[in-house]
Amino acid sequence: MASYLVTGGAGFIGSHVVDELCSRGERVRVVDSLVTGRRENLAHLTDVELMVGDLAAPDVADEVTRDVDFVVHLAAIPSVPRSVAEPVTTNHANVTGTLRLFEAARRNQVKRVVFASSSSVYGNSPTLPKHEGMPANPLSPYALQKLIGEQYARLYLELHGLDTVSVRYFNVFGPRQDPSSAYSGVISLFAKCLTEGQAPTIYGDGEQTRDFTYVKNVVDGTLRACHAPDAAGRVMNVSCGDRVSLNRLYTLMREYAGGGQDPEYTAPRVGDVRDSQADVSLARELLGYEPLVSLADGLAPTMDWYKSQTVHTA
Ligand code: UD1
Repeated sequence: MASYLVTGGAGFIGSHVVDELCSRGERVRVVDSLVTGRRENLAHLTDVELMVGDLAAPDVADEVTRDVDFVVHLAAIPSVPRSVAEPVTTNHANVTGTLRLFEAARRNQVKRVVFASSSSVYGNSPTLPKHEGMPANPLSPYALQKLIGEQYARLYLELHGLDTVSVRYFNVFGPRQDPSSAYSGVISLFAKCLTEGQAPTIYGDGEQTRDFTYVKNVVDGTLRACHAPDAAGRVMNVSCGDRVSLNRLYTLMREYAGGGQDPEYTAPRVGDVRDSQADVSLARELLGYEPLVSLADGLAPTMDWYKSQTVHTA
């Protein structure tokens, strides 16, 4: 049995990582500020040690990284538009929190840290699919903060021998993704509108594309990244490797829902990337990664979950 620290483990992706680790019988500690994470996401698990704290605050990272073998670092304030509106707050959480974590992991001799980065670091590039050899071109503070995290990961390996791997997620979706804020992921917002009979908003013409990735795929890729022998110091895409427009996505979701209002179109969002699709060959090569669940197959359990939440809270 190995011991894992999952930062942001009470959040959407984090709680799925924790679920998988628990089902494998591993020892799991979670640190979460509970700003966007929720205790309820872990309520069904009995053997998880939950420490409530902000990694950007002094001493928290040091305490939580004691006696752990592997760290999956997911804690962050997500959302491209939120980072445009709140660059200082998000920088503190996403950059200072990450730096404090690497520093503590080095001091406490963690075996490997897997850092959750983002497809947003690519920005707008003429070539699709996007591969790791392409230059980064961050278009928002969020993208820049994730790129800095990757660079710190590399630097900590070079300077201090801390084993780090960065995985770039592409538009992850699934049960437990919180739809309650205007900054929430688009699939969660569409699902909420469909279950409540409201019209969703589409920014721009809806022909922008994304590589929507069901959460089980990134859980698998991330846990592979904890152990893959040749992955140290590397950065790799973890996603489905496909892309779909927002208009097509909403049509698909409407079909699952068996109805739904027409979308309302409004101006494109500042900092938005036009097209996004990953080349996952590096993750295939280094991690033995293969996407497990397609967009279509992931939408069904996702929609069911949002429906069950509406019934709960009605
Ligand atoms: C970006 C990153 C992603 C990262 C995420 C963190 C890219 C390509 N992806 O996602 O890797 O994990 O930030 O938050 O940069 N939209 C609507 N209506 C809505 C909400 C969104 O039309 O109500 C549109 C957005 O304008 C965007 C698309 O849907 O074009 C996806 O938006 P969102 O789900 O917020 O994710 P990204 O910003 O693409």
